[in-house]
Amino acid sequence: MRKPHLLRIVLAGAFLFAFIKANAQQKTDPATEAKIESLLKQLTLAEKIKMIHGNSSFTSGGIERLGIPELVTSDGPHGVRPEHGRDWSLDNKGGDSSTYLPVGLTLASTWNPKLGYAFGSVLGSEAKFRGKDVILGPGINILRTPLNGRNFEYMSEDPYLISKMVVGYIKGVQDQGISACIKHYMANNQEVRRDGINVEMSERALREIYLPGFKAAVVEGGVNTLMGAYNRFRGEYCTYNDYLINKILKGEWGFKGLVMSDWGAIHSTKEALLGGADLEMGTDIGTPAKTFDEFYFANPALKMVQSGEVQESVIDEKVRRILRVMVKTNMIGAKRTPGAYATTEHAKVAKQVAEEGIILLKNQGNILPLNKTTIKSLAVIGANANRDNAMGGGSSQVRPKYEVTPLEGMQACVVNNTGIRFAQGYTIARNAKADEKLIAEAVDAAKKAKVAIVFGGWTHGYDYSKWSDNAYDAEGGDKPDMNMPFGQDELISQVIKANPNTIVVLFGGGPMDITKWEGKAKAILQVGYPGQEGGNAIAEVLFGDINPSGKLTFSWPKKLEDSPAHKLGEYPGDSINVHYKEDIFVGYRYFDTYKVKPQFAFGHGLSYTKFDYSDLQVSNTGKEVRVSFTVKNTGKTAGAEVVQGYVKDLKAAVKRPEKELKAFEKVFLKPGEAKQVFFPLSEDAFKYFDEKSMNWVLEPGQFEVLVGAASDDIKLKKKLQL
Ligand code: BGC
Repeated sequence: MRKPHLLRIVLAGAFLFAFIKANAQQKTDPATEAKIESLLKQLTLAEKIKMIHGNSSFTSGGIERLGIPELVTSDGPHGVRPEHGRDWSLDNKGGDSSTYLPVGLTLASTWNPKLGYAFGSVLGSEAKFRGKDVILGPGINILRTPLNGRNFEYMSEDPYLISKMVVGYIKGVQDQGISACIKHYMANNQEVRRDGINVEMSERALREIYLPGFKAAVVEGGVNTLMGAYNRFRGEYCTYNDYLINKILKGEWGFKGLVMSDWGAIHSTKEALLGGADLEMGTDIGTPAKTFDEFYFANPALKMVQSGEVQESVIDEKVRRILRVMVKTNMIGAKRTPGAYATTEHAKVAKQVAEEGIILLKNQGNILPLNKTTIKSLAVIGANANRDNAMGGGSSQVRPKYEVTPLEGMQACVVNNTGIRFAQGYTIARNAKADEKLIAEAVDAAKKAKVAIVFGGWTHGYDYSKWSDNAYDAEGGDKPDMNMPFGQDELISQVIKANPNTIVVLFGGGPMDITKWEGKAKAILQVGYPGQEGGNAIAEVLFGDINPSGKLTFSWPKKLEDSPAHKLGEYPGDSINVHYKEDIFVGYRYFDTYKVKPQFAFGHGLSYTKFDYSDLQVSNTGKEVRVSFTVKNTGKTAGAEVVQGYVKDLKAAVKRPEKELKAFEKVFLKPGEAKQVFFPLSEDAFKYFDEKSMNWVLEPGQFEVLVGAASDDIKLKKKLQL
């Protein structure tokens, strides 16, 4: 492990401050409210209407005479998006090359909430520098199916892990004086028919699986803005779904910020106004836009208020929320600090997230790390080894200041005169099949090298306009199946035959079917999309400068049919509805309970050192359950272990999962070092959502606390009575 640098120390301090427990509802401040009311009184109805809809592709209306600026939004979750003009085309004027951070899935794979804060700080600082007011991220939809084209932007299948990672991210952005925007609320778990598919799920699944991340973002993270999803939920569009927005978000959780639509997610005026949407963005009125007055929340809304069909107070409440966000982020009558842009400090954060987010899935015979002083020849195979990813994926695209590919990273990392021979291996193009010529070249390179490293997996589109042509991990579509594209199975199998010392590095937003060669590859890594420093981080992990410490945030099924959404539930549903029949049995909650063996389990990830777990103590103080145990690094290398705490209800009135994650910590240990870890578990950790009483229930009886290195690698357990 590297020594902590200054930025890490500064951010850790800010992080601790940020994590002081928040109250159950968002708070308002009397001075801010007074300012808002005073502005509201001065606004005419027409001016208020101007403020509640987009007036360009990424801004909404301002009122110059009162010093109310436009609200400027920008994607995205892992870097400030390239500049747009007032319409959809990219500016291409330069000056918009930002820090390209690893994607949300790679961030979550670090299991390090402090990095969530650092990540958010970079985004907030760069957004501020570029004159943005809202960063349209983080995205936290649940990884329900391996096929979702946007899984790479999201974090996990597990609501607890999401809740812990997302709060840091939001605080990081917002401590810079910029708003974060949690998205996409809610159940936008597939891209297929995302525009209108109606999601049906039980109240229990809603409360236990799909809402907790959003609740944490609002209640603990204090997020300023939220984006409604495109899809419907129980028959109503999410963005103006009375139950989701008015009752739960603004009612139960006391959200005081603004609800904006996803781009083009509003389809009516009255329902949307009353259903709780505050700001309409991105409605398709043709390109170039004729006039933004055609938006639902523009002239049609104005007319409805004038005719008395909708009360002006409904509009006032939306304007209040917009003004509240503006006042909180120093947009009105105040000055912002300047922010910083694509700095070396920001690049360090990108690097650190990549380092900690890379997951070592398999390491047979400890083939890794490679010894850079003794290795003389390496075959680097696969188009993903020298491909840039930043501009891919859809709305999360980033124009990076630079992007280090794995091939460049390896070339920079090796010493002496290690010969690296590159072979492309496959062609990235939709429906491309195995290419005999490219495979023959790769096999030849592998035969002549000591070790072969294949860089494969999923891919982003390069280019926003062509993203559906060559992309699998991209917005607007899902993956057709879980099979490795471009003939990679054939390539990898042939390379392994030619050189048994083959390592496979997989890019991508989630699992793929690797059963054809998994047993024969010596080592396998999952790297997600690791950002501008990804190539360096990958090389340093392969050569042992960095000890891997990432863990899977999702279960990796052997076959698509093993995945609960496909086995028990529906995907993608019919043309109207999708029923989440798997209910709460999402991810490991399904694999563990239904005894289905995954390829790799949730929470799995190896290290170059070994950790020993001992001395589990579990005591019930009446207020909380105190769990403590010791973890020791028994190997020769410094490393970090993500220790995970699960709970199990031994007997319950309802069917409960085999176990549920309720605590984790990333513990950094030198060789021989031991640390005692404490997991305080509140009553909530043992509850389930009861649909009869519509409440969380703690059912008295026996429970078990399990501590381990992965959901399928429990090291210690103890029973307790509650
Ligand atoms: C995406 C959002 C994004 C918005 C603006 C939509 O298509 O779903 O995530 O923030 O576009 O680019």
